[in-house]
Amino acid sequence: MIGRLNHVAIAVPDLEKGIHLYAELLGAKVSKPLDLPEHGVRVVFIELPNTKIELLEPLGEKSPIAAFLNKNPAGGMHHVCYEVDDIIAARDKLVAEGVQVLGDGEPKTGAHGNPVVFLHPRDGLGTLIELEQA
Ligand code: CO
Repeated sequence: MIGRLNHVAIAVPDLEKGIHLYAELLGAKVSKPLDLPEHGVRVVFIELPNTKIELLEPLGEKSPIAAFLNKNPAGGMHHVCYEVDDIIAARDKLVAEGVQVLGDGEPKTGAHGNPVVFLHPRDGLGTLIELEQA
């Protein structure tokens, strides 16, 4: 059902430090920062030959990554994102098997303009999993 690894997302307390690490020290191509107020994050995308890395910095008062950064003050791997052909079919299959989809269970528009859902880390081997229709 799942296809490519679309991205790995890393939550960071300081986006500028993250940009410095990936752009200057690791020599990767890093996008301009993008504010996603509806997701409570500011992001940059790092293009690698075989996938992307996203750095997420909290944006606003009720950022969903604020609690994660309280537990991981230096930052940390926040989620992995796998591509699926049909997000509704994927969601329905997982829900039928007892997997919890976060929020109201309906796909939201993700950082790349495509529909996404998130699976509860309890059902993802301790890892938050994002599915993106690609
Ligand atoms: Co993501």
